[in-house]
Amino acid sequence: MSNEIRNIAVLTSGGDAPGMNAAIRAVTRTALYYGKEVFGVYRGYEGLIEGDLIPLDSTSVKHILSRGGTFLKSASSTEFRTAEGRAKAAANLKKNHIDALVVIGGDGSFTGALKLAEEHGIKVIGVPGTIDNDLFGTDYTIGYDTAINTVVESVDKIRDTASSHNRLFLVEVMGRDTGYIAAAAGLATGALSIILPEKASTYEQLFESLHSGQSKRKTSNIIMVAEGNNLGELPEIALKIKEQFPDMDVKITTLGHTQRGGSPTTEDRNLASVLGYYAVKGLIENKHGNMCGMIDQKVVFTPLSDAISKSTEFDYEILTIAKVLAT
Ligand code: F6P
Repeated sequence: MSNEIRNIAVLTSGGDAPGMNAAIRAVTRTALYYGKEVFGVYRGYEGLIEGDLIPLDSTSVKHILSRGGTFLKSASSTEFRTAEGRAKAAANLKKNHIDALVVIGGDGSFTGALKLAEEHGIKVIGVPGTIDNDLFGTDYTIGYDTAINTVVESVDKIRDTASSHNRLFLVEVMGRDTGYIAAAAGLATGALSIILPEKASTYEQLFESLHSGQSKRKTSNIIMVAEGNNLGELPEIALKIKEQFPDMDVKITTLGHTQRGGSPTTEDRNLASVLGYYAVKGLIENKHGNMCGMIDQKVVFTPLSDAISKSTEFDYEILTIAKVLAT
């Protein structure tokens, strides 16, 4: 098989993340620059199975750099998890003489990409796009910076009302089974305690922080709670706190999908632009089968299999710093 790439397709898959549009723009314009034809696939692998793809030119991606979400849309596909589904997807690529695919997404999306490569010889490359920041092979994923800034903006507002009423707020943030969003936003908002899925927390520790806050005459408090933590959901945690501190005015807020929306920050636009550019260069230079990430400000290609199976060790020091500074 020739190493020469003819046409390139791009899709976004999994949960959307701010900066995905910037990545699509970068992939499209870089591929055009190198003389390739580019196709955009709607609704991720679901659209690929249905043949829902369109040719993209430079104007197709104008004015999207600053837009949140993904104009190609995203979807989860149960059919793509089957060999038959993947065969249909591969046939649609081959029909359009597309031999390379850029997948912008997270670990589930990359798992699918690997299968397409193994079973049908499609040259795939991954661009890390998820607010969770949970991929090995990059310091940051596209969307993470915008998400933590969204959380910080919301929690600053919550802090105003918490402070006016001497209240404790439990704030739940996303991250699936990781606590990168909670840790960064917790430190940035002066949270009294940060509860993560990576590290088992106990109610004793939580009560101890609340006692310590009381003894230092703190009148308002924020507890940053990552979804997927071991203590449970916010109503349950609030109830346990009330049992222990009956006079405490406890409120709960789940920030939910606000964290996934909004115009991407400068960091996310630039990360998406650089990684989208290098993803196409990587395909042309035969670096398919990898995820294109950024470590210590340098572009790094990591095998997709490592990107999804390995994990970067969580730096728990951030919890200690947050604790020291909050009381
Ligand atoms: O992976 C991104 C993410 O937003 C996670 O943080 C969260 O657990 C999940 O997706 C929510 O998925 P959905 O939008 O399908 O509810």
